[in-house]
Amino acid sequence: MAANRIELPKRKLMGPGPLEIHPRVYQALTSPVIGYLDPDYLKILDQVGEKLRMVFQTRNRATNAMPGTGTSGMEACVANLIEPGDKVLVCVHGYFGDRLRQMVERQDAQMSVIEGEWGKPIDPGEIESAFKSEAYKVLAIVHAETSTGVLQPMDEVVRLTREYGVMLLLDTVTSLGGVEVKMDEWGVDAAYSCSQKCIGCPPGVAPVSFSDRAVEAARSRKQPVRSWYLDITLLEKYWGSERVYHHTSSSTLNYALLEALTLIEEEGLQNRFARHLKNHRALVAGVEAMGLEMLVSPEHRLPTLNTIRIPQGVDDVKARSYLLETFDLEIGGGLGALKGKVWRVGQMGYSSSAENVLFFLSAINRALSLQGHQTDLASGTQAAMSALDA
Ligand SMILES: Cc1ncc(COP(=O)(O)O)c(C=O)c1O
Repeated sequence: MAANRIELPKRKLMGPGPLEIHPRVYQALTSPVIGYLDPDYLKILDQVGEKLRMVFQTRNRATNAMPGTGTSGMEACVANLIEPGDKVLVCVHGYFGDRLRQMVERQDAQMSVIEGEWGKPIDPGEIESAFKSEAYKVLAIVHAETSTGVLQPMDEVVRLTREYGVMLLLDTVTSLGGVEVKMDEWGVDAAYSCSQKCIGCPPGVAPVSFSDRAVEAARSRKQPVRSWYLDITLLEKYWGSERVYHHTSSSTLNYALLEALTLIEEEGLQNRFARHLKNHRALVAGVEAMGLEMLVSPEHRLPTLNTIRIPQGVDDVKARSYLLETFDLEIGGGLGALKGKVWRVGQMGYSSSAENVLFFLSAINRALSLQGHQTDLASGTQAAMSALDA
């Protein structure tokens, strides 16, 4: 029997996700499976909903975790809000904005696209021009673009969707639980995230939240939501007081999610954001003092995901394989247009720590020097330490 046991290395996860898991969350995963309509299980689901409201900063009743990964949350928001023929404006400034575009296309919407430069946020002036020329129903945009490491400033987006009465669909996959997401204050109608990044849980459930206006719009559609599984009007009958069977909810994943959310509550949202920001600043200070360059300009950097330019002449795959094989360290490569050009270093949830900052700087220094690219590790460590002390 022993030969068949799963044996895995203990990785340091500093890629775009999944990230490291707190021991309490692993422990929660081993709690016994109970039925999806068991009163004790329904209490767990209620608590998941309540704590997700705290993280999304919302009072939306239709807030819980969908089965599936972040992409399932994306598909749920798109499928519920958009009907064939609806005018939808999609912002694409990275790989995940493009995934949103592909999904909206499949709903037979009348879609317009704003193409932004990868590595920069979407220019709100372009959104305003589009709103002036067409009456859109929905604006779909990624808050934290994991492919580029850009955090989209929300002030102008929020002002414009309000002023023009356009519904706001927001991807918070790499922001929720790591940086501020103010669903109600921003007037977001549908938001989705994933469990495996800043929330600190394994992958497999997707936090979502729909405003009352969004649920009402889904209820009064001319045609039913094209996806039965992701239809919020059916899901809310399971999550809400009716308790109608919808699907066999993953009890173990929801235990883990609840424990991860409890850890967030114990830390406090603002403290958690401050931790993510401090560790991010320390990593960037270290990287830059070592002579490496960040892709994104300082004011638009995402504290949870760093994109570091790969120096000329350095082999991306060789360096990442070395980190994995020698240090058990996982970082991400570039996606789409940035493939081979950047490394993506995640600092989310339990993985956002001072220890990981220093570990990463030493490991990347070694990986680069083995390929003949020298960096100044002493200065990098010094700069990171100063930022951690600040
Ligand atoms: C911004 C963004 N949106 C959507 C997704 C899709 O999430 P998942 O891979 O959990 O399905 C990701 C995954 O990394 C992402 O970063």
